[in-house]
Amino acid sequence: MSDRISYLDGEYLPHGSARISVASHVVNYGTGCFEGIRAYWNRRQQQLYVTLLPEHARRLVSSCRILSLDSGPEEHQVIDVVVGLLRRNGPREDTYVRPLVFKSEESIAVKLSGLRTSFAVYCQPMGEYLDTTRGLSLTYSAWRRIDDNAIPARAKVIGAYVNAALASDEARQNGFDEALMLTNDGHVAEASSANIFFVFDGELHTPVATDDILVGITRGAVIALAGELGLKVVERRIDRSESFAADEVFLCGTGVQIAAVSEIDRRRVGCGATGPITSKLRDAYLGVVRGDLPDPAGWRTPVYE
Ligand SMILES: Cc1ncc(COP(=O)(O)O)c(C=O)c1O
Repeated sequence: MSDRISYLDGEYLPHGSARISVASHVVNYGTGCFEGIRAYWNRRQQQLYVTLLPEHARRLVSSCRILSLDSGPEEHQVIDVVVGLLRRNGPREDTYVRPLVFKSEESIAVKLSGLRTSFAVYCQPMGEYLDTTRGLSLTYSAWRRIDDNAIPARAKVIGAYVNAALASDEARQNGFDEALMLTNDGHVAEASSANIFFVFDGELHTPVATDDILVGITRGAVIALAGELGLKVVERRIDRSESFAADEVFLCGTGVQIAAVSEIDRRRVGCGATGPITSKLRDAYLGVVRGDLPDPAGWRTPVYE
């Protein structure tokens, strides 16, 4: 991908030519939304599989509605551009795809309506987002998760990632791998860029969608896989103190995939190693998305003919 191609407003361009103005609304106010999508290279099959592409397209369109990004792309356009871009770039390795819909008008007016909307997509190679060969160490951040009545976490809003970046920097500077965030009223929400699951007595528990989380596409996949494996899943409000008593904890998201957590605020989780339920879900998830296991629910979109 040395001569990378990107997409901007109807055109496939050399990456360096896909540019917007410093005066555009999104640069000044963060007014846009985005998706993060993985595509896995299967060497045996010589195929690149995009993971859960229709689901990402649907969430992007719903984020656009929340942010009044009128005249943004429809779901089928997002899907067509992502596949078209990957075909043009032709990667033969694991790849990350980033669609963005944003206010591109040059305007200093602080508002959402009546501003031109742009649609861009770029891609880049991507291996592991965090080192998941060992369990992750998490800490509860002093920064609270943005409230639905401030900036809705369920929309993947560009400007809202300042909240995640503050928490993640704080965690890393204090020697942890990742930050866990609480809602304004003190319940577990999610990690800075991943959802969280706890295992209690063989059941999976995860914060409910109304507790200021991005409702992750991977979270949905985990819930579906758990059902297939006969595991009960409970979506509910979770207290911070409960998290210290879980038998297993894992993060899930497009970037981290499914990653075991070995400690939270220096308290060991379970026996400190990747637990059996986490392992089972991780193997099942990676098997499907990489193309090594059957795909009954149609999670994979093949890129090459
Ligand atoms: C704040 C936040 N929560 C959760 C997730 C996981 O979402 P998904 O599984 O759709 O990647 C992400 C990843 O993008 C995120 O940024």
